[in-house]
Amino acid sequence: MNSFASQVLTWFDDHGRHDLPWQINPTPYRVWVSEIMLQQTQVATVIPYYQRFMASFPDVRSLAEANEDLVLQHWAGLGYYARARNLHYAAQQVMALGGEFPQTLDGLMTLKGVGRSTAGAILSLAWQQRGVIMDGNVKRVLSRHFAVAGDSSSSQIQQQLWTLAEENTPQQRFAAYTQAMMDLGATLCTRSKPLCLYCPVKATCQAYALGTPTAFPQKKQSKVLPTKTAYFLLIENQQQQLLWLKRPPTGIWGGLWCLPQVDVEQLTELQTILEQQWHIKQLHLQPLAEFRHTFSHYHLMIKPVRVYGEFTQVLEQMSVWQRPKQAIEELGLPMPMQKILAEI
Ligand code: ADE
Repeated sequence: MNSFASQVLTWFDDHGRHDLPWQINPTPYRVWVSEIMLQQTQVATVIPYYQRFMASFPDVRSLAEANEDLVLQHWAGLGYYARARNLHYAAQQVMALGGEFPQTLDGLMTLKGVGRSTAGAILSLAWQQRGVIMDGNVKRVLSRHFAVAGDSSSSQIQQQLWTLAEENTPQQRFAAYTQAMMDLGATLCTRSKPLCLYCPVKATCQAYALGTPTAFPQKKQSKVLPTKTAYFLLIENQQQQLLWLKRPPTGIWGGLWCLPQVDVEQLTELQTILEQQWHIKQLHLQPLAEFRHTFSHYHLMIKPVRVYGEFTQVLEQMSVWQRPKQAIEELGLPMPMQKILAEI
């Protein structure tokens, strides 16, 4: 084992995380679900979701046989909902294989939503085989330690980082090393304020020697995200229930329930649409506090507005009326919808 790996492992034994929920009884199913949830989401956020998910879907069969709505409901608030749809689909793939997870890298990568790094994590954490990972944490640790210059999202640098990851992954203690690299990245080698003084490999870290650890990984200048605007309508009936619409399966918040959305910039435009297209008479609009939500490719300026008027026709198919509290508990709402309800 090279000295990088052995120092990382020694640090892990004393300072790594050893009692995360998915480290208890690390079956392929439990590890897989945790790895998907942990993509772009922090451990502290994931833990309650993970526990609720495991209570409802304790094994791959129960997930495969579940209704997709119920799966999405368990994901509501975590974001990146394609992950939940892929997870559900992949559970069915595993059932088609007889209910057992593949035990090879290529086999694992045939599962929808499982890329090379996630497959490597399952291989090492669950199957105790030599699996190599390259998630955001590992990318940061390696690009700093070896001062890898160049746009880290380019295929050339990705390739270089994978090679470094391969070379430094030891031939023993695979699961410990995988977890150790994640823990090092998440707890010491953090994005903006790394705690280099506590780092087990600072003596050989080239970015530390240069005095500029946060200059790595290098990114090409990121484009400024565009901002879109949408109104979200709070339409209440006489039972103090709000109108909710199920979103189409693709696009943002695919398959989740939301307040009706109208993509216009100005309140006057909204007014015209509601009067002329929705035929709402005696219309009165009351804007509420607006806020911004950021998706991977754009910002959305969210403008909630109470809509009063005469609704003479049924508004849409796939709609339900629910009180705010019920909606949060029973429908599964994306975080910005929960935020609107918290304000009213
Ligand atoms: N991030 C991705 N996988 C993780 C894991 N198994 N433990 C902690 N953080 C992670």
